[in-house]
Amino acid sequence: MNDIPPNEAKISAQAVAAFGNTPTPRLRQVLQGLVRHLHAFASEVELSEEEWLEGIRFLTDTGRMCDGVVRQEFILLSDVLGLSMLVDAINHRAAKAATETTVFGPFYIAGMPERGQGENMAFTPGEPALVLGRVLDTDGEPIANTVLDVWQTAENGMYSGQDTEQPLSNLRGRYRTDEEGRFAIRTIVPVSYPIPTDGPVGRLLQASDRHPWRPAHLHFMVMAEGRRTLVTHLFNHDDPYLESDVVFGVKDSLKVVYQRCQADHPLAERYDFDGPFRLAAYDFVLERA
Ligand code: BEZ
Ligand code: FE
Repeated sequence: MNDIPPNEAKISAQAVAAFGNTPTPRLRQVLQGLVRHLHAFASEVELSEEEWLEGIRFLTDTGRMCDGVVRQEFILLSDVLGLSMLVDAINHRAAKAATETTVFGPFYIAGMPERGQGENMAFTPGEPALVLGRVLDTDGEPIANTVLDVWQTAENGMYSGQDTEQPLSNLRGRYRTDEEGRFAIRTIVPVSYPIPTDGPVGRLLQASDRHPWRPAHLHFMVMAEGRRTLVTHLFNHDDPYLESDVVFGVKDSLKVVYQRCQADHPLAERYDFDGPFRLAAYDFVLERA
């Protein structure tokens, strides 16, 4: 880094010191750290006045793009900057035995229908799939009555809520484990899709020659009493975007194979498949709260 001229270093020191009386110690630490790093960034790149103004315009546009319902452009920005996954990593350092976490994303909708074992949550076309597994504690014991809140895009790459043509409950639902900790989700095989590019985050990606794609995945929020809630995805193991996820969310332990099964497969009748389908299996492990 360049040597910072004394008058510039003085401004930075004054700004950091100005937050020195913040009564809450943690807030003081966060604010002073933020100001210190923001100033170091401006000094390092020798920010021009035009660039500063462009940054203000960018953040203003980002705020304007948020609608308080489905569109949260600031979370999207955090995601493409890798900040969301960094915060996730910082906050799950100790959870070695539990299933790994990944980014929450902006498309979760609370209050989706409770679904029975094996109930189909897909009301739009796609390759039929069954996702089976168990929820276990870190000793390998099943956890009954766990809620798995699940969501994914339709084949057109859009979530219900984003795409008003889909019923809101399409490809969403809350499944519950049985006494043996088992769950069964009937759905369609997830597809890769681009994150929304019609706002400032899309312009940022374009200006930096980055693609907007996420590898195909199924979202999970797994909740059980006395356990830490798990927010994660299962990724299709063969997706072309696994190595370049625009939000850096992929972890090897979260990849699943959707095996090809024929209509005479032993599970076909039980789960109402009258033709070929895909089968994926995964056990989730929850740590104590
Ligand atoms: C998602 O997977 O739904 C998602 C995550 C981060 C940004 C945009 C979408
Ligand atoms: Fe997603």
